[in-house]
Amino acid sequence: MILLKLFVWRTNMCGIIGYVGKRIAERVLIDALKKLEYRGYDSSGISVFNDGTLSTFRKVGKLINLESDLAERALTSRIGIGHTRWATHGKPTELNAHPHSSTKNKITVVHNGIIENYLEIKQQLEKECNFQSETDTEVIAHLLEKCYAVEGDLLKAVACTVKTLKGSYALAVLCQDKSNEIVVAKNSSPLILGLGKGEMFVASDITAILSYTNKSMVLEDGDIGVITKNTVQVYDKELKKVTREIREIKWDAVLAEKDGYKHFMLKEIYEQPQVIEDTLRGRVNLEENDVAFDYVNLNEEDIKNIDRVVILACGTSYHAGLIAKFLMEDLVGIPCEVDIASEFRYRKHLNVLNAETLVIAISQSGETADTIASFEAAKKANVKNLVISNVIDSTLARKSDNVVYTRCGPEIGVASTKAFTAQLCVLYLVAIFLGKKRKSIDNDLVALVLKELLKLSQKMSQALKNTKAIMEDWAKKFHKKHSFLYLGRNINYPIALEGALKLKEISYIHAEGYPAGEMKHGPIALIDENMPVLTIATQSSVYDKIAANVEEARARGGRMLVIASEGNDKIRYQSEFVVYVPKTMEILTPMLNIIPLQFLSYYIAEIRGCDVDQPRNLAKSVTVE
Ligand code: M6R
Repeated sequence: MILLKLFVWRTNMCGIIGYVGKRIAERVLIDALKKLEYRGYDSSGISVFNDGTLSTFRKVGKLINLESDLAERALTSRIGIGHTRWATHGKPTELNAHPHSSTKNKITVVHNGIIENYLEIKQQLEKECNFQSETDTEVIAHLLEKCYAVEGDLLKAVACTVKTLKGSYALAVLCQDKSNEIVVAKNSSPLILGLGKGEMFVASDITAILSYTNKSMVLEDGDIGVITKNTVQVYDKELKKVTREIREIKWDAVLAEKDGYKHFMLKEIYEQPQVIEDTLRGRVNLEENDVAFDYVNLNEEDIKNIDRVVILACGTSYHAGLIAKFLMEDLVGIPCEVDIASEFRYRKHLNVLNAETLVIAISQSGETADTIASFEAAKKANVKNLVISNVIDSTLARKSDNVVYTRCGPEIGVASTKAFTAQLCVLYLVAIFLGKKRKSIDNDLVALVLKELLKLSQKMSQALKNTKAIMEDWAKKFHKKHSFLYLGRNINYPIALEGALKLKEISYIHAEGYPAGEMKHGPIALIDENMPVLTIATQSSVYDKIAANVEEARARGGRMLVIASEGNDKIRYQSEFVVYVPKTMEILTPMLNIIPLQFLSYYIAEIRGCDVDQPRNLAKSVTVE
């Protein structure tokens, strides 16, 4: 059983839509939600007027479930709001799905964001309101109804409600008494208005409405708006009219879904700084020099008794696990093994696992068949267990006693990028969590790591900015090569493996990741002037060793490409091609070093005309053996 310490099912990705005009609203809403499904898809819902009554329809699972349900209802409303949900905490259930209604069903609301003071508000309203869900959003519906009873006007009710809310929100609101208008509000979550002829839209992004109009108005934080089929009016918080520019969007619908990026992979590479911020949010407490998780139920006694950690995963998640071995051993002081799930599951290990073993399964999807099977096999030995997953309530998450979620939103490109760095981020936190409970980690070191972790998002943005053009250039120069060697040592050896995997899977070029010190035991024979040798040589305790390995490869004619730390000018004497990433603590360097490697594989695949987001023979989730 998972201990739920925080009783809110929050949403941060999610897609919202609103329509008023001449068409059948239900069809527009479903069509738009399909375009927004990339923002989340664990449940969905709409509110429309059905025989003059504000009616809400919600379904768990993919949008198709809602679509099939609505198909039989023959709805004719010309106004409505809709939502597709991606929960970051808790269960995707019908009651938690949006839209949420007020007690008397006078108001329905869709919301994207997080209401930080929802508990406070809930406590105040609980006696007079009938709460149905565990979401933060529902408090908005009840507050709106209360304010509407006083103000008698929906716009004023929204203005009064948002004054109480702390946190982020994009809202679209319908009221039983106003079958011709939608009121919207925005703070720190995206929201745009779409302007058509005799019809208006509100949406989380332009993707949703591009097939109806290319004229949009981007709302600013604090804006409140009212749309009817022929009018749009925007106000500030005090309900003073404000003007927002009408923009003409030149994107086609497919490009828009990718936020203007050519591929999801590139978009997801660029999302990493935000993902790291989201993954750290609420989990780091600098004052107490500690970390906390919502769904981790391991107490101090349990943690003190752990004598070994076994990590199970596949592919990129396995590489995250290999890095975690350094964290478990160096930071926490517990022996750690990392196993490929498909290998582990067929070994006889029951006699070596026991109640003192902590088994950690890492999986973006939480649906990888081998990882699930290996985790189940390990659990038979009564081990302590923990899952790191990106998908709320995934199969693996449900099978585990403890879960830490990465907060990436849906990862759509088959090549995993943002999920990898988010997994690393969680693993740093897990290591500190275990080390603190075991009192095996130095407090000054914890403070240093936590502070540096909080700076990483900004350093990642810097790395994205500084390395992109250089990687495009390397891609132009090397995309015709048949084989690449990726070298790393110590905590960056798994980054060499991950860089090589990225290149293999999306550009179909053979690439091998190797521990640099092992080269002279065989692979160095491969090196000649045709072999690009990509070496990760950022500042570290083994820098001199890896610099020597660069020399060895160079002496054999290899084309040396090096990732180095900013300020290392000397390396230019050793290597023809150098790309610099910002400095950070040695244990955190993998988070930055992977960025140029993601770019390199992306741009090589692009030049070679490969299908970047859906490479041949691969699937995003490997749900079969
Ligand atoms: O969903 P999971 O993290 O369990 O997936 C594991 C691997 O299938 C996945 O990481 C795969 O290797 C990626 N395509 C790599 O980019």
